[in-house]
Amino acid sequence: MNKISSSTPYIIWKPEYSVGLDILDGQHCVILQLINDLYTNMRLQQPSLDIRLALETLVTYTKTHFSTEEGFLRKWNYPGYPEHNKAHERMAQITLSFSAQYLQSREDLQREMFLSLKNWWLTHILDEDMKYKTYSSQVIHGD
Ligand SMILES: [Fe+2]
Ligand SMILES: [Fe+2]
Repeated sequence: MNKISSSTPYIIWKPEYSVGLDILDGQHCVILQLINDLYTNMRLQQPSLDIRLALETLVTYTKTHFSTEEGFLRKWNYPGYPEHNKAHERMAQITLSFSAQYLQSREDLQREMFLSLKNWWLTHILDEDMKYKTYSSQVIHGD
């Protein structure tokens, strides 16, 4: 972890992560940016208040995104909604518990936490969120 320069983003959003809706892509970018900010804060050993604020922001914004996305899924009568909603609830809980444990964590646990955050978000966007891309496009454009 400490071989990476502090200016290198930990996660970079790529066009292939696009789910086809600007508002949701924008929120995904913000989430990844918040994880990057937290990672940078942790690596630069910023005062714990900054890290606490960064964690709170990540917890709050994660809920904001899930709520926005679920609103669209309900509006589209997306058939995969129940499972998607459960995956979101689990992740909201995991993020909250990361936040609670973070400040006491040893460095190896923090490393695990960042890997989990990165893996969950990239896998969720590419696998689960991507499943509604075609469906929503059919609902919105009728194609
Ligand atoms: Fe999602
Ligand atoms: Fe999402």
